[in-house]
Amino acid sequence: MALPHLREVVSSIHAELSAASGLHVVLGLESSLLREAPPAPPALLPRQGPTARFPSTQAHVLVQVSAEERERLLWSLRRVLALSQAVLSLEEEVLGGRIGEGRDAFGFRDGLLRPTPEQVRATALIPSGAMAGASWLLYLRFQQDLDLFSHLKPQAQERVVGRTHDGELVVDPPAEAHILRARAAGAGENQLLIRRGFPFRHAGEEGLVFMAAAADPDAYRRSLDALLGAGGQTPDAMLRYATAVSGGVYLAPPLNWFHSAAPGGGVP
Ligand code: HEM
Repeated sequence: MALPHLREVVSSIHAELSAASGLHVVLGLESSLLREAPPAPPALLPRQGPTARFPSTQAHVLVQVSAEERERLLWSLRRVLALSQAVLSLEEEVLGGRIGEGRDAFGFRDGLLRPTPEQVRATALIPSGAMAGASWLLYLRFQQDLDLFSHLKPQAQERVVGRTHDGELVVDPPAEAHILRARAAGAGENQLLIRRGFPFRHAGEEGLVFMAAAADPDAYRRSLDALLGAGGQTPDAMLRYATAVSGGVYLAPPLNWFHSAAPGGGVP
């Protein structure tokens, strides 16, 4: 694949989708494709714990689009394919959407602690260097076993998450509760990573696309190891009911990277 051509293609996707109203776009590339990228995180995926695994299905390019209107969403997905088909082939596409006021497939309120712009800047944006303003993205797609989870009583379900279905903190949660495992890594309160996933349903299967942005890719190693129970830690109870089936790490370049790939803009 000719890298300058790929850069022109992803820049044209970025330009067209960013100019369209009613869309939010996140665009990342496998970091070895970016000449100016900071050192890649050492072999983050696949990652194995005593009882669960996060696989790698690393692709070259990741595009996430969110839209208020389904028509806009479908238009944007068609445009991504049309603009990229000369250099890229589609490996995975997941269509999802908000459930109710923002619940995951197990019925829990998600995205409770909305990050402030200041938290996004401090946690997710690389502060300096050639890629200042870029962000490391983690993509993980989980299948959630609704049947197995439904056999738990509501209170037991809440102890798996560490929050009630409506988002209140559970009193005296077990150490294996999901939010305690995430916090053990230092990821509570949007301190280590900014989450931006969405639930999906496809061919009878439901799950969560977990997307996150972080300035420091080591945030992901710490978070994933805390959930997996690596190094003698307690594994996350959630991983008994949710299985990661694909995953990858990408670098979302800063805006000026896209702009400088425009014709006459000095493609390296
Ligand atoms: C199927 C997989 C997953 C499901 C269903 C899930 C679900 C949830 C739910 C329901 C909450 C509580 C609501 C909230 O605080 O917004 C939560 C919180 C959180 N999750 Fe997950 N999650 C999953 C995977 C992950 C992964 C892979 C990570 C990290 C790499 C992660 C990190 C977090 C963090 C940092 C919090 C907030 C903790 C806090 O500040 O209290 N989650 N998750």
